[in-house]
Amino acid sequence: MSKILITSALPYINGVKHLGNLAGSMLPADVYARAMRLLDYEVLYICATDEHGTPAELAAQAEGMAVADYCDKMHEAQKSAGADFKLSYDYFGRSSAPSTAALTQHFAQVLEQNGMIEERVSKQVYSNADGRYLPDRYVEGTCPNCAFEAARGDQCDNCGKLLDPIDLIDPYSAVSGSKDVEVRDTKHLYLKQSVKSDDLRKWVTSAKDWPPLATSIALKWLDEGLRDRSITRDLEWGIPVVDKDGNPRAGFEGKVYYVWFDAPIAYIGATQDWAAETGGDWESWWRTDKGADDVQYVQFMGKDNVAFHTLSFPTTIMGSGEPWKMVDQLKAFNWVTWYGGKFSTSSKRGVFMDQAIDIAPSDYWRWHLMANAPEGNDAAFTWEEFQASVNSDLANVLGNFVNRITKYCVGKFDGKVPDGGVPGEAEDKLISEMQIGLQYLKQKYEQREFRQAMFATRKLWTAGNEYLTQAAPWTHYKTDTAQAAIGVRYGLNLVALFAILARPIIPDAAAKIHAAMGMPMLKDAWKFMRPEILDLDYEVDPGDWSKEYVTNILNILEIGHNISAPDVLFTKIEDDDIATWTERFGGGEA
Ligand code: 2FM
Ligand code: ZN
Repeated sequence: MSKILITSALPYINGVKHLGNLAGSMLPADVYARAMRLLDYEVLYICATDEHGTPAELAAQAEGMAVADYCDKMHEAQKSAGADFKLSYDYFGRSSAPSTAALTQHFAQVLEQNGMIEERVSKQVYSNADGRYLPDRYVEGTCPNCAFEAARGDQCDNCGKLLDPIDLIDPYSAVSGSKDVEVRDTKHLYLKQSVKSDDLRKWVTSAKDWPPLATSIALKWLDEGLRDRSITRDLEWGIPVVDKDGNPRAGFEGKVYYVWFDAPIAYIGATQDWAAETGGDWESWWRTDKGADDVQYVQFMGKDNVAFHTLSFPTTIMGSGEPWKMVDQLKAFNWVTWYGGKFSTSSKRGVFMDQAIDIAPSDYWRWHLMANAPEGNDAAFTWEEFQASVNSDLANVLGNFVNRITKYCVGKFDGKVPDGGVPGEAEDKLISEMQIGLQYLKQKYEQREFRQAMFATRKLWTAGNEYLTQAAPWTHYKTDTAQAAIGVRYGLNLVALFAILARPIIPDAAAKIHAAMGMPMLKDAWKFMRPEILDLDYEVDPGDWSKEYVTNILNILEIGHNISAPDVLFTKIEDDDIATWTERFGGGEA
């Protein structure tokens, strides 16, 4: 399979995201997209802002703006924060685009024709003071599960439980704070998820390569007995509920589809918008009758999104009876915590993407967050560990290596890849380490095991440093220039290799090293990682990282090729910086 469709959970429009959101969906999706492009897969990475529902309305209200204007503004803000972090979306769309509205109406109609949607009268919280219903986040109160006093109607932020607003104890309006609320009967559309329980269970249990976190969440819901879900809300902002002629559906005036009904549909809508803009063929990515059965579809998300992606959205797709592509691999993440506690805007704890980029380059965050990806467990962010990642891994290990050998080559060999010397024990050892390390790294990327991929990358950098220490060209230079030349040549080839391996993780540093090494940012740099398609005059088995193949990699730069020393790649983070940032953003006191 050579096509990979990647989506990362669509960030709510209600503000620039914090580092925890970034680390749990968009960043790993980007690193994966970049790594797979390097491995010559045809990749389509789609994301968008999630613009409907109560989060959008409440945030717009807090800023005193019309919702549509607020969404325009925040879409641009999120797009630019993504660009600052070098997120390489093929398309960053909007769930409020007409494409998603049309698809949502389409799905609603076919689901209804197939008996998967039904009108039911349900109980909703109504605010007498505000003269309106209070869906989802419009009502707050005490969580019936953990007694947290500021639980939102749709979900408790403290224990994570999905809630029905009428279950809240002592509910009050998030609009006015009024406690003058009552429960009234009102009509809504329900998606009959329960009908699909057996099919969903079969699908979830046969899914390959999902992390246990994703499978266990889906099975927990199924074991508890899947309930049908209301897919409409008493709101103005959203996709209106219409009949098949496009007229307001009788009894549903003033109601819109629930944000979680249309948001995943926006993955498809945004792909249509990408196609409209680029001339691409969206159906070949999404319709299994139009070639998408050859696509590997990978979704990235935080654990709170898993139920919607393993149960509700698959019910929409399965229930349509149409040949839509379903997710193949679902990569779910735990939380990044702030010193073990929650990120919190109000109490000045945590860092948001736009602030982060003001205080350190995106490469620093990208490396640290991926090396500590919340895969097995929640992962605590601390300033001290951020400092250690940057200073030790990036500055001391990678930066120092590149600097040491390129400067030496410029000083002693006129900045040209030198000829001469006979490979010996040090080169043999290096080649064996690279054979194992490169193979392992490729495998870890393909398995989306990011911590291990970062660990493997760092190990390769360390092996490079150890090689230089052993080869010690500076010691041999005076007595045996050929012996010095071989150390420099292998060292420079390692720099070239490291530049390519850096591309998925720290793209800015990678570009600087490419430039210093006089290497174009070739797409076919993957040759370094794909022996089976490396155009060499000998045969290699796919996946066989033979000694000969790796030796060739380490001799890829032509003799006499000009290189230069890059400017400082990474500046160390000082203790004073940590003190300033702790003062500004909070830290260990959480
Ligand atoms: O949790 C969130 O931030 C949601 N906006 C994710 C939506 S993912 C998708 F389905 F669109
Ligand atoms: Zn709770």
